[in-house]
Amino acid sequence: MSVTVRVPAKVNVQLAVGAARPDGFHDLANVFLAVGLYDEVTVTAADGLRVTCAGPDADQVPLDRTNLAARAALVLAERYGRDADVHIHIAKDIPVAGGMAGGSADGAGALLACDALWGTGASREELLDICAGLGSDVPFSLVGGAALGTGRGEKLTELEVGGSFHWVFAMASRGLSTPAVFREFDRLGEGREIPEPVASQELLDALAKGDVDALAAAVSDSNDLQPAALSLFPELADTLAAGRAAGALATLVSGSGPTTAFLARDAESADVIAGALRASGTCRTVRRAAGPAPGATVV
Ligand code: C5P
Repeated sequence: MSVTVRVPAKVNVQLAVGAARPDGFHDLANVFLAVGLYDEVTVTAADGLRVTCAGPDADQVPLDRTNLAARAALVLAERYGRDADVHIHIAKDIPVAGGMAGGSADGAGALLACDALWGTGASREELLDICAGLGSDVPFSLVGGAALGTGRGEKLTELEVGGSFHWVFAMASRGLSTPAVFREFDRLGEGREIPEPVASQELLDALAKGDVDALAAAVSDSNDLQPAALSLFPELADTLAAGRAAGALATLVSGSGPTTAFLARDAESADVIAGALRASGTCRTVRRAAGPAPGATVV
């Protein structure tokens, strides 16, 4: 018997970052939007725990117990006093190490799939709690749609979205490590007062109304990690400029990067921006996706 779960990627339409906490994490006001780029995680009963992966970036995915999908299966099995005897197969379409929560998606997907396969009957709260233990972005991968994440990003409040937004994503030629980007954020902020992170009301209103112009105005400069990502990866400025020149209403680094995100007025404009980015030679691949998209779903 097998269970397959489909899980979306995300873009952070706002990422307000506070000062480093004593535990090394940073308090955030993190506005997540799930977008229609998906990984599919299939779990099948097996003799032991095994992870396989297929897709364009599959060679960059760890297949050992550091993979969040394997960790999700182990944590759930431990809680329910059973062995994690499953073959987890990841059909990977979300870019790896791109700031789009691809690893988190696989963690949430494997958790939901194992839960269904084993019939554990875990509550939604319990699944969300396990997700938070796996990583700051994993609860959102389960929930999808749009949400405000506070704390280190794991405490979620679901948000209303009044329409669908068209995005283009440009994947970079190399990855960026999330801890390294946070460290660079700390370094750039040294000696400065870092304000408490707060969600922008203007941005939440723009999402609720489905107003693309208002969202475009609100997302510029909304990612506090963007200067740190650009400092570690200066060439990203060329990608942002190419998308802006092609008519993107707003351009931003997605999360800790290095994927860059471009908000388009409509599907036609997204096609034009995607074509221009492909021709620009400033990125590795280009994808289009609309959001919000549903969270982890058994298919
Ligand atoms: O929670 P997750 O394992 O995804 O976090 C990866 C790393 O990103 C952390 O070890 C930390 O360095 C950094 N991080 C942070 N503050 C957050 C989330 C992540 O400093 N709120």
